[in-house]
Amino acid sequence: MEMIKVDNLHKTFKLKLKTIKALNGMSFDVKRGEILGFLGPNGAGKSTTIKIIMDLVRADSGTAFINSLKSTNPDSRLRVGFMPENPQYYDTITGMDLLKFAASMFSVKDAGKKAHKLLDEFELTEFADVKLRKYSKGMIQRIGFAAALIHDPDILILDEPMGGLDPVGRMIFKNKMKELNKSGVTIFFSSHIIPDIEDICSRVLIVKQGKTIKQFDRVDIQYLTTYGFNIILRKEDEKNLNLNENEISKGLYSIKCKKDELIEKIEAIENSSAKIVDIEPLKKSLEDIFIEILND
Ligand SMILES: Nc1ncnc2c1ncn2[C@@H]1O[C@H](COP(=O)(O)OP(=O)(O)OP(=O)(O)O)[C@@H](O)[C@H]1O
Ligand SMILES: [Mg+2]
Repeated sequence: MEMIKVDNLHKTFKLKLKTIKALNGMSFDVKRGEILGFLGPNGAGKSTTIKIIMDLVRADSGTAFINSLKSTNPDSRLRVGFMPENPQYYDTITGMDLLKFAASMFSVKDAGKKAHKLLDEFELTEFADVKLRKYSKGMIQRIGFAAALIHDPDILILDEPMGGLDPVGRMIFKNKMKELNKSGVTIFFSSHIIPDIEDICSRVLIVKQGKTIKQFDRVDIQYLTTYGFNIILRKEDEKNLNLNENEISKGLYSIKCKKDELIEKIEAIENSSAKIVDIEPLKKSLEDIFIEILND
């Protein structure tokens, strides 16, 4: 079942004399229990789509639904945790104030207890009573994520959650996202950091010029990132197999082949006295594929 449905969104912005088509038929679903990555170049329409789902921007046409309720209905977001791109908060309040404010919007019981737990999880306990103006960019991201979790949401919508984070911060976020997902939270997030997407997503949408142009699940990603195979074999006699085998150590050889040549190579090896020891995929990165798709 889909938790979010985005159906044929169109959105045009006017900027001075220019008209900018930010969304041009954006459609996709976010299914219950998945971690869906939203990947696309700058200006592809990711934040605009997210803002329409959060009803911060209204579409010219098309509809977004959360749990079958139109996103223009505030009730649709009662179980949603949201973190915007580059979160900015009143900087005269403290981290604890922000969490309590977020809790009050959702009438959370035990707000103080929950806030302390989240501050601890995001390693911000000692900054609980420090004003946000004194927080670093990474700390703002962390308190923003904590605020999005205060009401134990079922759906998380995060716009570039790992944007300003160092590798340790990214690891904390990714682990938290994996843990939440294991406990049943559906996650939809945009990112430019392809290895992060590859790491944690069960599915990836690629968007360009205001619409989805491709989507991959984990198996597709495995398939697409594999461009060939390295077959390792052992042969006792020195007879040449004529398969372009290279000796890697005494008696052990490797044969590199393209994806569609694998069966043919295996058959040729099986018809010889050589034995296959291992077959390993040769990988290119999702980043290479992303660039290839965008240049198509
Ligand atoms: N309020 C606005 N007024 C005018 N143009 C806007 C507005 N918001 C977005 N745009 C334009 O709409 C297009 C899509 O922007 P959007 O922020 O959705 O892209 P994005 O995919 O999130 O990009 P990024 O990866 O840089 O965050 C861009 O050309 C942007 O300049
Ligand atoms: Mg954006």
